[in-house]
Amino acid sequence: MALLVRSCIPILTLLLGLFSAVKGAAAQRPLSKGCTTPHNWAGQTREFSFESSGGTRSYRIHLPSSYAVNKALPLLIAYHGSGNNPTKFETETRFSDESVNPDTITVYPAGVKGNWQGPTYAEPGVSDLVFTTDLVNRIKDNYCVDQSRVYATGHSNGAGFTGTLACSPEHGGQFAAFAPVSGAFYTDVKGDENCHPARSPLPMFEAHGTADPIIPYNGGKGRGGPLPSIPYWLSRWAQRNQCTTSSTKDLPNGVHDTKWTCAGVDGLLRHLKIDGHNHSWPGKKSEIDISPVVIEFLSAFHKP
Ligand SMILES: *[C@@H]1O[C@H](CO)[C@@H](O)[C@H](O)[C@H]1NC(C)=O
Repeated sequence: MALLVRSCIPILTLLLGLFSAVKGAAAQRPLSKGCTTPHNWAGQTREFSFESSGGTRSYRIHLPSSYAVNKALPLLIAYHGSGNNPTKFETETRFSDESVNPDTITVYPAGVKGNWQGPTYAEPGVSDLVFTTDLVNRIKDNYCVDQSRVYATGHSNGAGFTGTLACSPEHGGQFAAFAPVSGAFYTDVKGDENCHPARSPLPMFEAHGTADPIIPYNGGKGRGGPLPSIPYWLSRWAQRNQCTTSSTKDLPNGVHDTKWTCAGVDGLLRHLKIDGHNHSWPGKKSEIDISPVVIEFLSAFHKP
C-alpha cells in the first residue's frame, strides 16, 4: 500500500503540473462566459439596451461573419462624438466593414443625450465609467470575447472619454489599448491629478487635425471646459508609459506619424498629426483613412 502511494506521487505531481500549465494558458487567453452561447446573426449588427448609470442605455453590436461558439474574438468599444449616435458612427468609422476590421466584435454605445462624462455639458450624475464596466461585463457574458484584447476608441467627446477610461484605476484596467481620434481631453488637462492608470505602460494612440476648430490642436477653451494641447497631453502619456525615445515619419498628404518606444516596446505610444485636417473622423476622402490604422494599432496589443 505504502509502495503504491509512493509510486503515485510522481504521477500526481505530473498531473498537478499539467493542470497548472493549462490554468496558466487559460489566464493568458481567458474565454469569456458567453463563449458557449450560439448566435445566428454573425456578420450583422443588432441593437440592445439595459439598465445602468444614466438609466436605460442602448448600444449597437456587430458580430464578424467569422463569429463562432468557443472562438474568442477581440472586443472594440467605439464611442461617438457629442451630438452623434451609434448608427452614424458605425457608418463613419466602417468598423463593421470586414475589409477594415475583419475579426473584432464592435460595440457602439449611445451617450446619454448624445454626450459622454467629462465636459461641463455632459448629463450631471451619469457615470459612463460605471456604464462601460457594466457594458463590457454584459458583452463578455453573452458573447465569446478574448478578455486580453478589449479595446476602446472614440471621436471627440467620445475620444476624450476613452482618455478618462485610460486614467481610471477602477475602470480602465480591463482594456488592452486605447485609440482616441480628435480627442477632447477635458478630464486630463494638467499633470496627473485626474490620471491614475491601472497599469503602466498602457498602449495609447491619438490622431488629430491641426485645423480642428472644435478641439484645437494647441488646446485652449473648449465648449465643455479647458482643453490640453495635444503635444502636452502626449508628453504626459510618454511619461506615464515610461517612453524613452520617439521618431517621426512623414507620410503622404501632410500626415506626421510619431512612435514612441515605451518600457522597451516600440510604438506603444503613437500620434498622427494631420496637417490642415478639421474635426471630422478622417475617412477615405481625408488626408489619411484613419480606421484601418486604428485597428492595426489596437490589434498589436493584448493585456499582460
Ligand atoms: C472636414 O474635412 C473633410 C475632408 O477631410 C471634408 O470632407 C469635410 O467637408 C470637412 N468638414 C467641414 C465641417 O469643413
